[in-house]
Amino acid sequence: MTTTAMPKPHGDRGMEGIVAKWYAANTAEVMNEYQELAQRIAREIAPGSRVLEVAPGPGYFCIELARLGSFEITGLDISRTFVKIASKKAAEAGVNVRFEQGSASNIPFPRGTFDFLLCRAAFKNFAKPVPALQEMCRVLKPGGRGLIIDLRGDASPALINSHVDRMGLSTFNRLMTRLAFRTMLLKSAYTREQFMQMLAQTEWRKVEIVEADIGLEISMER
Ligand SMILES: C[S@@+](CC[C@H](N)C(=O)[O-])C[C@H]1O[C@@H](n2cnc3c(N)ncnc32)[C@H](O)[C@@H]1O
Repeated sequence: MTTTAMPKPHGDRGMEGIVAKWYAANTAEVMNEYQELAQRIAREIAPGSRVLEVAPGPGYFCIELARLGSFEITGLDISRTFVKIASKKAAEAGVNVRFEQGSASNIPFPRGTFDFLLCRAAFKNFAKPVPALQEMCRVLKPGGRGLIIDLRGDASPALINSHVDRMGLSTFNRLMTRLAFRTMLLKSAYTREQFMQMLAQTEWRKVEIVEADIGLEISMER
């Protein structure tokens, strides 16, 4: 699971643009991760499913999923810069994905809209995590599934270094990514116990949390 430093949602627009472009280029180096995740999800959801990715950034997961089947896919990101980047990349790829601007803690869709929801490498960035969890639940249909994939707050430095080294990044990006993990990302990431406490304050029905390498996968059913 790749994850890296991100602009503050309401920070300086020029800086946000630079960091967003850097993130889009850096994560393009690990496109196989998005492809593998899209293949896995495409096997798990029904044709025609309505899918929402919360905080898609450059939109790579949505685009890869759109290549694999007749899904109705929407991406919702707080950053206008990322919405523009993702929309352009989807158009270039010739796939139909709708990217919109909005916040995870105030999702601009009616209750019960989607069959499946993904939030990858982004949850730790949310300013209001519990309202975001509740909003994700609200916009799913009854029986709909949500999947959050993110960094574990208790991942050790040794695990992080070996994970970054395996990503096959260029030397500069490898050093930048290691630094971002150490100085920023771990500080905002949650542990399994913290997720359980937050989820207990929401309407999610079934929850399963799996720890793997430096990440957590939280599978939820509405
Ligand atoms: C590290 S990127 C992850 C992008 C993508 N999910 C991926 O796997 O590459 C984090 C994303 O979270 C978005 N974000 C941060 N806070 C948000 C919020 N409250 N609502 C929606 N998106 C948010 C950022 O704009 C950014 O696109």
